[in-house]
Amino acid sequence: MTDSTRSTDEDGRTDVEALDKEYVFGTWSYQNEVDPTEVVGGDGVRFTDAHGTEYLDLSGQLMCSNLGHSADAVADAMAQQAREGAYFAPGFATEARARLGEKLAEVTPGTLSKTFFSTSGTEAVEAAIKIARMYTGKQKIISRYRSYHGATAGSISVTGDPRRLKAEPGMPGSIKAPDPYAYGSTLDPMESLDYIEEMLMLEGDTVAAILVEPIVGSNGILVPPEEYLPRLKEIAHEHGALLICDEVMAGFGRTGEWFGCDVFDVTPDIMTMAKGLSGAYAPLGATIVTDEIADHFEDEMFCHGHTYAGHPVACAAGLAAVESYQEQNLIEHASDVGAYLGDRLEELAESHPSVGDTRGVGLFRGIELTKSEDERVPFGERSDKISTGSTVVDEVADAAAADGVYVANMINTLIIAPPLPITESDVDDAIDVLDDALEVSDAAMD
Ligand SMILES: Cc1ncc(COP(=O)(O)O)c(C=O)c1O
Repeated sequence: MTDSTRSTDEDGRTDVEALDKEYVFGTWSYQNEVDPTEVVGGDGVRFTDAHGTEYLDLSGQLMCSNLGHSADAVADAMAQQAREGAYFAPGFATEARARLGEKLAEVTPGTLSKTFFSTSGTEAVEAAIKIARMYTGKQKIISRYRSYHGATAGSISVTGDPRRLKAEPGMPGSIKAPDPYAYGSTLDPMESLDYIEEMLMLEGDTVAAILVEPIVGSNGILVPPEEYLPRLKEIAHEHGALLICDEVMAGFGRTGEWFGCDVFDVTPDIMTMAKGLSGAYAPLGATIVTDEIADHFEDEMFCHGHTYAGHPVACAAGLAAVESYQEQNLIEHASDVGAYLGDRLEELAESHPSVGDTRGVGLFRGIELTKSEDERVPFGERSDKISTGSTVVDEVADAAAADGVYVANMINTLIIAPPLPITESDVDDAIDVLDDALEVSDAAMD
């Protein structure tokens, strides 16, 4: 118990938990199953709830708290900006927005140089789709089944995971392709690429862009073979389509490189960012394009915008966050600790029969579970993402939480994406807890 421990009602809820349940929608959920835990604060890679439990944050909340929970430089920059001028219309230039634009041109690869700022990953993707359409004059977007690109009408249409089903038929021109998923797909990863090439050929010259997460995040941490992304860019360009890399989750050091596409040495035509861009200190999204695409809009209208495009407080957070990654060498640190994390996850795989696969890069890793030691049989199916009740994967995550480790899970995979400042000793603490929690799935095997 800590000083922050709150009193609870007969259902064990604090007053905040009871109010929240009554008055606020839980996202992507059947509301009768929503029962949020009140959190009261965070420090470094840990946070605390109102019942006195401290958690090691093994998923950086929603794979976004890349700087941890006490990045004072970011909080100070936001407070200073709010005092000096919280908001000015996008038609004005502010120092925070201009310097963050310059910074993103510096840390992104190749000639990516000009940015449109928004307030979320969803909006960053919406902007990318519109820019690709305006630039190419074509309408279709090829994306992949195992993907998440956002919640709004357009971005959920190009999303492949089952959350799109409630929004279908969705945006015309959204076409889905298979994924490079060595563990779970019937197609070999490079065969899935041949499939996309065939699609491009059959669609003729009508595809504006191929939109991919360079390393798939919430659909299971899928890392393609080394040659996949370079070849994808080639085939896109051979067919007059752009390559959009959605770096909303993989970006800002998560992979041990600045961006997921850096792992494969590929510069996309358009890149989307959010989450780690501000270390989750402010809602901030960004869509950056190459010089060539930027030039196109010199004499064509850039027909897009929002009231909060380039919000000064959010941009101040973004600038301070990117400077923090640089000043604290967090990208290199993520690579080093990430390698250690990978080794420790391998050990878990060896000692737990229900661990079917561990995969990932840097501090972006997944543990996929299996019911059967002989063949891959998931505990959680894709359809579980939109059905009621909990799966064995949820139960493993609950067991870890009961032992002080917060870990997100999606479909059949535990998603490990901690704040980048995590240390090897924190990793050891987390592995001890996961070692116990995975007994739950071992016991549930066929
Ligand atoms: C790859 C990717 N793109 C887009 C989004 C949407 O971002 P947001 O939730 O900030 O709208 C997400 C969110 O998880 C994501 O992982």
